[in-house]
Amino acid sequence: MPPHILSSVPRKLHLQPAHPVSLVRQLLEQQFPNPTFRHINALDPVVSTAQNFDSLGFPDDHPGRARSDTYYINRTTLLRTHTSAHQAEAFAGVTAEQPGYLISADVYRRDAIDRTHYPVFHQTEGALVWDREALGVRDVADKVYADLAALPDHDIVVEDVNPPFHAVRNPRQERWHSEAECAAIGAHLKRSLELLVVRIFGLARAAARRASQGVPGGDEPLKVRWVEAYFPFTSPSWELEVFHEGAWLEILGCGVVRQELLNASAPASVREPTNWSSGWAFGIGLERIAMLLFRIPDIRLFWSTDQRFLSQFKSLQGPRGDGDLSGLEQGLRPFVPFSKYPACVKDVSFWVPGPTTTSSAAGGNPTRDDSQSFHENDVMEVVRAAAGDLVEDVRLVDQFVHPKTRRRSLCYRVSYRSLERTLTNIEANEMHDAVVRLLVERLGVEIR
Ligand code: DAH
Repeated sequence: MPPHILSSVPRKLHLQPAHPVSLVRQLLEQQFPNPTFRHINALDPVVSTAQNFDSLGFPDDHPGRARSDTYYINRTTLLRTHTSAHQAEAFAGVTAEQPGYLISADVYRRDAIDRTHYPVFHQTEGALVWDREALGVRDVADKVYADLAALPDHDIVVEDVNPPFHAVRNPRQERWHSEAECAAIGAHLKRSLELLVVRIFGLARAAARRASQGVPGGDEPLKVRWVEAYFPFTSPSWELEVFHEGAWLEILGCGVVRQELLNASAPASVREPTNWSSGWAFGIGLERIAMLLFRIPDIRLFWSTDQRFLSQFKSLQGPRGDGDLSGLEQGLRPFVPFSKYPACVKDVSFWVPGPTTTSSAAGGNPTRDDSQSFHENDVMEVVRAAAGDLVEDVRLVDQFVHPKTRRRSLCYRVSYRSLERTLTNIEANEMHDAVVRLLVERLGVEIR
């Protein structure tokens, strides 16, 4: 477990007053309010493989389980890779009065290094169920449609070309849900999340207008689309994309909760746990939303303790503290970057020992001994260890296989840049020397 990961565990950015990650969490909590939704914000990031994977129906060979993608503490304990790790416990806690929940937390993933990826980030998980036992019905479709009719309308453009479920591409759980019930839950889920987009992007556009910055496409109606997706713990499943500055941006994953998961988590009060209730769930990344809402250009800024960053958000938290976003409503302004300090760019080329994999798709069961194999995420970890938050970007710029020896050579380009001051070339060289040394020591590469 790298020290730079462990040291971020106590930071809890989603709970820091006026921190942009916390402001987005509060925005979600306003959109999915108490008492319908229980807000859960202080769950320990150390979870079991059972919580993070097994309870959610992840197959044994799912790439997410690989040691190259996930921070393991031991064989069965890890830092959660998503807030879905807590779904089973959270479903066990729902009641007729509080049938939904919202879990916000820090999550951890070994990943590439660039301006939108950081090994620690934050997610909010939301879910809502309808309890057929409490409602006294065998099918909750009518009740779900009635609840849907009570939700506000909106006037954004929604592209949703696919049927509510599809036998092959996005199946209904036939054993558990009637066609009407599956369609009703999907429709309620989609409207609820469209309303979230209306709120977030409405704020962002109003802020851009106040700052009289033209937003490309900012005068056109807001446009979203539903894309069929796959998650082991929902069926059917979707991703929601928003048309933002000329491109489709994926902002969340969601779906109709797998009944096996719900049944296994039936609260003690439920008399007949089989098919006791059905509902929807979604998961959304908070940094991505904060980056577009506040126009924050680099994900490392969230970890900055520089007042030039933090002070820009102070006035957005209202005087009544957590949950009071009156400041955000009127005062949201795009983030003003402090001056852009120059980058120092350095390359490193090396021969890879043994067989090479560069994508997580080649991952596998973490219990197998893969200590000998080389994975690109290990390079990322080495660079983080040597340079911490002073690394902005790491990318593969060249690779080839030697025709005779079949050995593989890789060249990575590392951009060093501080967000807070100018780096000297001497400092950058020292960090780069450390990268080279650690690549040899830890990964056994041969520098060219
Ligand atoms: N856990 C998923 C992820 O991290 C996101 C997600 C998708 C959460 C679908 C959900 C869901 O609750 O229903 O990519």
